Amino acid sequence: MKKPIVVANWKLNPPTIKDARVLFGATKKALRSIRTAADVVLCPPLSYVGLLAKGERSVVFGAQDVSSDARGAFTGEVSAESLRSIGTQYVIVGHSERRARGESDTMVSKKVRAALEEKLTPIVCVGETVRDEHGSHLAELSAELRNSLSEVVRNELSRLIIAYEPVWAIGKSADDALDAHGLHETVIFIRKILTDIFDRESAAKVRIIYGGSVEPANAQPLIQESGVSGFLVGHASLDARSFSAIVKACAVSKK
Ligand code: 13P
Repeated sequence: MKKPIVVANWKLNPPTIKDARVLFGATKKALRSIRTAADVVLCPPLSYVGLLAKGERSVVFGAQDVSSDARGAFTGEVSAESLRSIGTQYVIVGHSERRARGESDTMVSKKVRAALEEKLTPIVCVGETVRDEHGSHLAELSAELRNSLSEVVRNELSRLIIAYEPVWAIGKSADDALDAHGLHETVIFIRKILTDIFDRESAAKVRIIYGGSVEPANAQPLIQESGVSGFLVGHASLDARSFSAIVKACAVSKK
């Protein structure tokens, strides 16, 4: 079994490179004693990645988005190859905050393809907008998975990560996040859909991580009781101590 993975999504924070260097330094320091126990990926705003990654061997970086195109007249886009060339190894694809700005499943599937072509690891985000007791959110989740992975072939599944991020749980607090029981059921559901699309053996190899108000207070029960392989952490990754406490919870649980 692979090590758990914890991904920091800094989103549009912090405001300047000076602040980013402070947060980066504090995060590295806090992680020093626990780094080997879990894979850690930092996804700062792209404008900081090259600067922070320069000469840096101990930290793995990811981007928060990627272009579906490799090159050409596409103003504002950033290709997978260029991400790779500045030291990026992972990329978040199809985050709900990008989907809310118009990114469709088709666009997401093309971005996943572009990332795989360049040997970047796509962290493919899926998650329902609202959850209802009749389970109709499962249809939304299933469609999102099928469509977002439409350009992936079976033997590539082990090269990507699924981030289950229910939109309603993002940006709140540990008390409002999905609980371990609900997460466990959803992880089983996601693996069932992956088995339907691909096959059982390939589906079993995919790392499924959770995002949505992961904080030190809920990290341990979520990792121990739900079957996820790690977390995609938003606001708590902007505080080095909180983030390292989350990493530590994962490291301890998989010993
Ligand atoms: P929060 O941890 O702030 O809820 O954000 C989750 C997220 O969107 C990570 O990608």
